[in-house]
Amino acid sequence: MAEEKWERTPGGAVLMDGNRLRDELVVDLKGRIEALGNPHVCLATVLVGDDKPSQIYVRNKRKKAEEAGMVSRHVELPGDISQPDLEAAVRDLADDPSVHGILVQLPLPDGLDAERILDLLPPEKDVDGLTERSMGRLLRGRDGHVPCTPLGVMRLMERYGVETAGKKAVVIGRSTLVGLPQVLLLGRKGCDATPTLAHSRSGDLAAICREADIIVAAVGVAGLVTAEFVKPGAAVLDVGISRTADGIQGDVDFDAVQAVAGAITPMPGGTGPMTIGCLMENTFNAARMQGAFA
Ligand code: GUN
Repeated sequence: MAEEKWERTPGGAVLMDGNRLRDELVVDLKGRIEALGNPHVCLATVLVGDDKPSQIYVRNKRKKAEEAGMVSRHVELPGDISQPDLEAAVRDLADDPSVHGILVQLPLPDGLDAERILDLLPPEKDVDGLTERSMGRLLRGRDGHVPCTPLGVMRLMERYGVETAGKKAVVIGRSTLVGLPQVLLLGRKGCDATPTLAHSRSGDLAAICREADIIVAAVGVAGLVTAEFVKPGAAVLDVGISRTADGIQGDVDFDAVQAVAGAITPMPGGTGPMTIGCLMENTFNAARMQGAFA
C-alpha cells in the first residue's frame, strides 16, 4: 500500500492503526477459510470469575473468531471453582480433537495457580503462546505459537513500513506476556533489530530510549514515555494499559510524542486490537498443525 494513504497525526507521525490491521487480518483469514471449503476451525475460550475487563476481552475474541469463519466455544466458570475442577475443564478441551486453540483468560482469580493450568495446554493448542513449551520453541527458533501481543507489534511495524534491520530497539518492561518475547522477536533473523530490554531499575530511561529507532513500551505506567524519550522519527508502539481516574491510558504520552515520532500507535486502537488479530492468526495455524486442512 502506498505510504501517502496512511493516516498521520497532527504532528506528522504515521498512525499505526491496529483496528484497521486487525480487520484486514480477520477478512483475510475468513477468505482463506472459505477458499479451503470452510473446514471446522475452533477456538475455545475459558473465562473464570466475573472480572469486567476480562469479560470484555473474551467477548471481543469470540466475536472476531466468528467473523473470521471460526467456531467459538466458550467455557465460563465461577470464580470460586477449585483448582482440580478448573484443571479438569481445561484437560477436557486439551483432549478434544474438535478444539484447535485454547485461550485461558488471565489473570485467574486469587487462589488459582495459572502456571499449573497453562502446563495442561498442548503446545499446538496454545494459541496465546504463553506456555513454557511455546516460549521454549520461540527461544530455540522452532515452529510454534508466538505470544499475540508482541506478534501484533511486529505485524504493525511490517504493515506500516517501519524498518527494523540494523535498527536499535528499546523494549520497556520485562513481562513474560510481552517484554521478553518482544525482545526475541525484534532480535531474530528476518527482523534483525538490536534490542535493549529496559525496566524499572534501568536508570535513565529517557536517555536509553532516545538512542532507539523503535520503542515498545510495555510497563503499565501511564504516560511514562514523554517527548524527551523519543529520537525524532522513531517508531513508538504502546502496549501499556493503566486504568486511571481519567480513564484508560497507555504508557505513551500520545499528544506530546506524536509531534516527535515518525510513527506511533494510538491508545486505544493500536496494539490491543492486534493482540486479537494475532490470536486469530495463531488459531488458524493451530488448526492446520492439527490436520484440520492441508
Ligand atoms: N490477559 C491480558 N492479556 C492477555 C492475553 O493476551 N492472553 C490471555 N490469556 N490473558 C490475557
